[in-house]
Amino acid sequence: MEIVKCTEVRKKFKIADDYFEILKGVNLSINEGEFVSIIGESGSGKSTLLNILGGLMPVDNGEILILNERVDELSENELALFRKEHIGFIFQSYNLLPQLTTIENVEMPLIFSGVPKAKRRTIAMEMIERVGLIDRINNKPSELSGGQQQRVSIARALINNPKLILADEPTGNLDSKTSIEILDLLKELNDTYNMTFIVVTHSQIVNEYANRVIKMKDGLIY
Ligand SMILES: Nc1ncnc2c1ncn2[C@@H]1O[C@H](COP(=O)(O)OP(=O)(O)OP(=O)(O)O)[C@@H](O)[C@H]1O
Ligand SMILES: [Mg+2]
Repeated sequence: MEIVKCTEVRKKFKIADDYFEILKGVNLSINEGEFVSIIGESGSGKSTLLNILGGLMPVDNGEILILNERVDELSENELALFRKEHIGFIFQSYNLLPQLTTIENVEMPLIFSGVPKAKRRTIAMEMIERVGLIDRINNKPSELSGGQQQRVSIARALINNPKLILADEPTGNLDSKTSIEILDLLKELNDTYNMTFIVVTHSQIVNEYANRVIKMKDGLIY
């Protein structure tokens, strides 16, 4: 089943008084269960495309179907709901809240979903177990290594059981040994739960995990 389909997606940004077209008609189709990496030079539009796929940014032209929903046609509220239910995000910089512990960071999205506390804890514990951090549940991010912080952010991304996970340079701040541990974890989640992964990367290692490597150049896919 096709989980992502983009047709002729275009996006321009205004810088000073000029518009620059950053995505120039992207066509992309990804099937459920794929582990896809997106590579390309800095500035080629990788993060812009990922943000658009995740509904974090509107498009100027084109169609985006995710799980058969035209996300480019959703209102902001509908989009927020759609993201919460179906998409998990992982970022290079982890984006954890520094004052919260592992378990509190992981259960955060469930607070917004109105899940009662006891149930939140149970679900968060299960996700933390999946990422192998059960002995660090009460530590704050500053007390964790980079790889551990990324595991927390992965557990948080998994909390709503998303079908699609979008990762922007998830190993960008990690050494190669830790990168491999994190990629092993992502691949295991991909295999075990048939979650679809789209991973933007500059790292050669990621491509070894991908079933498909997509190249971006100057706002287009090759
Ligand atoms: N909000 C914005 N406003 C104006 N220009 C932007 C904005 N976001 C991105 N751009 C520009 O769009 C281009 C593509 O940016 P993008 O972040 O998608 O690149 P990238 O391929 O992810 O690069 P990198 O590998 O360095 O992360 C860049 O020239 C960038 O300056
Ligand atoms: Mg980027």
